[in-house]
Amino acid sequence: MPTQIEQAVQLLQTGGVVAIPTETVYGLAACADQPDAIRKIFKAKNRPENHPLILHIANKKDLALYAKNIPSYVDALIQHFWPGPLTIILKKTDLVSPVLTGGNDTVGIRMPAHPIALEIIQRTGPLVAPSANQFGKISPTTAEHVRQDLGDSVDLIIDGGRCIIGIESTIIDATNPDHAIIVRQGLLSASDFNEVLGSNLVNTTLDSSISAPGNLKSHYCPEKPLKLFSNQKELDLISEKYHHNCYVLPLSLAVKNFQYTFQMPNDSADYAYQLYFQLRIADGSDVAMIAIEPPPDTEIWGGVLERLKKASANH
Ligand code: TXA
Ligand code: MG
Repeated sequence: MPTQIEQAVQLLQTGGVVAIPTETVYGLAACADQPDAIRKIFKAKNRPENHPLILHIANKKDLALYAKNIPSYVDALIQHFWPGPLTIILKKTDLVSPVLTGGNDTVGIRMPAHPIALEIIQRTGPLVAPSANQFGKISPTTAEHVRQDLGDSVDLIIDGGRCIIGIESTIIDATNPDHAIIVRQGLLSASDFNEVLGSNLVNTTLDSSISAPGNLKSHYCPEKPLKLFSNQKELDLISEKYHHNCYVLPLSLAVKNFQYTFQMPNDSADYAYQLYFQLRIADGSDVAMIAIEPPPDTEIWGGVLERLKKASANH
């Protein structure tokens, strides 16, 4: 009997799409040199074809095969943060198919820190892998979530347990030789990067010409309405509107009188770990809406806040 990893490698090499665990969220993978397999990913996710995919590699030195004009600060960042939850956007080389970049001349590259993902990539070569969910919805942090979202449209789902980070990687636009711009926040923030670089090269305040999910107002959405509250009074108002039929995820408030509730952790990494996981539980429950208390608007909470703002934008 072939192992799951052997099966995955075989399927990927023959044009299949396979859901794989990474340390951030589950990804829906295809071989980067197989445009037809990449098109299957867009179809399975219902994703617009101009929305670029991240290229996942297993060796730092491969960066130079797929990206050019690499600023020296990028070398310092990958030495420190790869493998890990950092995606770097750079000018692409001719080896990168425009099918995966949505026709852009840039490519987003990351080396994931999950042993299963790394072993598969070592054997197949680079994989493209967006989050393994329906476009615009909550990313999956377990194999079961992938099954619920994509089920039959994937050839194999590898169960690697729950993702330890729980939200997607931080994405930086590194196409400028002098500075980088964060285009999607994640667990790693500008000060993590700047501490390693010893200067303020990475920032969030400049506008990037790169368009990323940050530019969509609504993303990461549960099915049920999601509302943010920051004090008891706001929670009471929301709750009344939905006849107290709410799933409540407080952070600092001690919430009473709700049947369905989960206290979110008061640490940004722990909160991120729980965020999508708890939203999925709430979404699958028998209530009318979800109310969540966002963390303070400070840098370490940036990744979580960005997701909460977008997830609640439509409601
Ligand atoms: O943690 C992650 O990054 C996960 C795991 C599976 O690696 N992947 C992930 O992929 O979140 P996805 O496709 O759901 O989100 C990647 C985002 C896309 O929305 C896209 O806008 C942006 O990265 N992106 C990728 N390449 C880009 C490029 N060349 N230019 C601009 N944006 C890019
Ligand atoms: Mg996604």
